[in-house]
Amino acid sequence: MAEYTIKVRRFQPESGEGPYWEEFNVDLDPSLSVLDGLLQAKDNEDGSLAVRCSCRAAICGSCGMKVNGQSTLGCKTQIGEAQEQADKMKGATGTTAAQASSPIRGEDPGGAAEGATAPIIIEPMGNMPVIKDLITDMESTHWTKIRRVTPWLLPHGEPPEREYIVEPESMIDITQSMACIQCGACVSSCLSMEADPDFIGPAALAKAYRFVGDPRDAETAERLHDLADDPHGIYDCTHCFSCVDACPKGVAPMDQIMRLRRKAGEEGVEDPNAGHDHEIAFVKVIQKKGLLDEALLVQESYAPGVKGKLKPSKRGITETIKSLPTIMRPLLKRKVKLRQAIPGLHHGLPKDAMTDVKSIYEHAEEHNEEFNLYIKGEEGELAEEPDIEKGAERSTSPDNAEAK
Ligand code: SF4
Ligand code: SF4
Ligand code: FES
Repeated sequence: MAEYTIKVRRFQPESGEGPYWEEFNVDLDPSLSVLDGLLQAKDNEDGSLAVRCSCRAAICGSCGMKVNGQSTLGCKTQIGEAQEQADKMKGATGTTAAQASSPIRGEDPGGAAEGATAPIIIEPMGNMPVIKDLITDMESTHWTKIRRVTPWLLPHGEPPEREYIVEPESMIDITQSMACIQCGACVSSCLSMEADPDFIGPAALAKAYRFVGDPRDAETAERLHDLADDPHGIYDCTHCFSCVDACPKGVAPMDQIMRLRRKAGEEGVEDPNAGHDHEIAFVKVIQKKGLLDEALLVQESYAPGVKGKLKPSKRGITETIKSLPTIMRPLLKRKVKLRQAIPGLHHGLPKDAMTDVKSIYEHAEEHNEEFNLYIKGEEGELAEEPDIEKGAERSTSPDNAEAK
């Protein structure tokens, strides 16, 4: 057993007062969870301390909260590890997680005295209204957005008499998004949502991919157009990785958003940032030269190939003109040479190095697999990779021959 100080950001709406910090001393084994610490404080010190929980085993998704500033599940975070993290943060910055949080009610959230251990800081999830203490309103920010993406299958035609039969392999791609337990930790940590509360957000977009990638769904194109046309949709994500760090189930919501973007590009959806074309252009330029010819990258992103140059689109012309000042500025300041500013003149790698580049491309083409929870590893591992089997089992009916 060990003693810990947990410092909880509390809010009791019935008091009419704003939020405040309160410390509790708890005594428990380091392998027990932060949630166990909170429940002990509630039992022994203040029954009004509000925290939502159910399974206590990282399954139900009820106990989302911030521990030392990081969105996570209270029941999945060992209190011993949380203490180490709090001490490490104080050691590295001289600041506790509480001091790093915005001050509340004008108080100095304080921290440990010199030499003492830092308190473990526990706060409600971010990007959601707080109902009471650590309980947030998931309906207004999380569930509403989940419903926004039509989170159910939309198959066409008459339903089969018994069940839809699909190849187990065709479900592997969506197993990662299926692992979501709707805890909201990713929503809590999303930086784009902080700037734009209307952003559909990581959890709902990961859920959207679960259906876009499902071979039984017949409205993939409509879903993709809908999510791409929405100004708060798939292009609102800033690729910050925060949701990937926060997710306790390895769903990596940002990866699902990138998959949605890629599928949207394949579907012919016009990306306002030209992300898909940019990606293709990037791959082509490196394949050709081994080095990044930025002027060529811009040209290929907006006017790809011979056709794009002979018959440039209106958008291609506008975007190329818009990019001119970006090229001219470093040119005038002599930060780049003229040949670097003219598409195609930038030098490439020597011939022998290009052989290596070519072999990397060949390898990538031969192993054209998406990485997710159930698809991992390097060359030669896939055949004997047990996780593949696991992924297939999870997505199939009990006899492992059909999925429904
Ligand atoms: S990667 Fe995108 S969705 Fe994920 S937290 Fe960052 S902005 Fe939000
Ligand atoms: S994607 Fe991960 S963090 Fe987000 S709600 Fe699902 S399980 Fe929680
Ligand atoms: S209590 Fe169920 S996930 Fe934490």
